[in-house]
Amino acid sequence: MKGKTVCITGPNSGIGFYTAQELARQGARLILGVRNRETGDATVARIRTAVPEAEAEVATLDLSSRRSIEDFAEQVRRMAPRLDILINNAGVMGSVYTTTEDGFEQQIGINFMGPYLLTRLLLDNLKAAPEPRVVHVSSAAHYGGKIDFERFRSDKGRYKGMPAYAQSKLAVTLFASELARRYPDIRSYSLHPGVVATRIVRSERNGWLFALGWTLMRPFVLSPARGAKTSIYLATVAPPPEPNGQYFDEHQHPMKPSRLAQDEELARVLWERSEQFWKEAGAIF
Ligand SMILES: NC(=O)c1ccc[n+]([C@@H]2O[C@H](COP(=O)([O-])OP(=O)(O)OC[C@H]3O[C@@H](n4cnc5c(N)ncnc54)[C@H](OP(=O)(O)O)[C@@H]3O)[C@@H](O)[C@H]2O)c1
Repeated sequence: MKGKTVCITGPNSGIGFYTAQELARQGARLILGVRNRETGDATVARIRTAVPEAEAEVATLDLSSRRSIEDFAEQVRRMAPRLDILINNAGVMGSVYTTTEDGFEQQIGINFMGPYLLTRLLLDNLKAAPEPRVVHVSSAAHYGGKIDFERFRSDKGRYKGMPAYAQSKLAVTLFASELARRYPDIRSYSLHPGVVATRIVRSERNGWLFALGWTLMRPFVLSPARGAKTSIYLATVAPPPEPNGQYFDEHQHPMKPSRLAQDEELARVLWERSEQFWKEAGAIF
């Protein structure tokens, strides 16, 4: 990975931390997209305890805010005129209805709409790299997902966290394949990291009972280091796997995603509608 620049979101904890650390160990230069600069600096320090020569810079990014995404993309464009790899790792899970700064339901907003905008804003820098890749951390939860555009910006009555999470991860999987169709020179893969013992289930977003259940499960699920394996594989494996746009499981095996995730017309409509949503929120493509 020497000579390659990797931008990764959500590197402070869980899967993102171990992905970033291993890529630094393999010689990549890292740009870490974090909500809080001090936490990001602490993450760089943690990476350097394991990899003293790690090349890592921090830039602030809140995927729940268009302005923050645009500022971050601007910084990345300056820091990396040639961006080799983008890893859309950051994500949330929640059962309480809240919206992002731009009015999106939080899970579709942070897990999909934010990474969609960020990826689009970084396309020119990715295209400038000799073999660019985008790795999208999705989830097997997408198998239960449906796309309902009305739910992108409203709770339509009673809010249920899991269907909203599943919808967001279906959108991520569709986006990964559509990106590959529209930009065949950019490798674009989505993945399920496994069920991994991370902080994704937080009590403030999920209630104490779900958070407690998740904590009790921790000894029986994958470690975050193990959960990072597929992201690392897809960022580094040479030659890049075929076909472009493929979905992978936690064993780095190519897998058929859900029937809806294979629907090319749905993927096309999702791309267009998401662009429209962002334009209505003030974004310029
Ligand atoms: N754990 C699992 O079993 C599992 C299963 C399937 C898929 N996944 C996916 O794996 C990815 C990584 O999650 P994880 O399990 O490693 O959980 P995690 O430890 O909670 O990590 C999530 C990361 O996302 C960042 N993040 C959250 N909201 C953000 C925002 N608005 N803007 C920017 N960054 C934000 C967090 O940043 P802070 O440090 O600022 O909080 C954190 O670093 C997610 O996409 C998740 O959906 C996880």
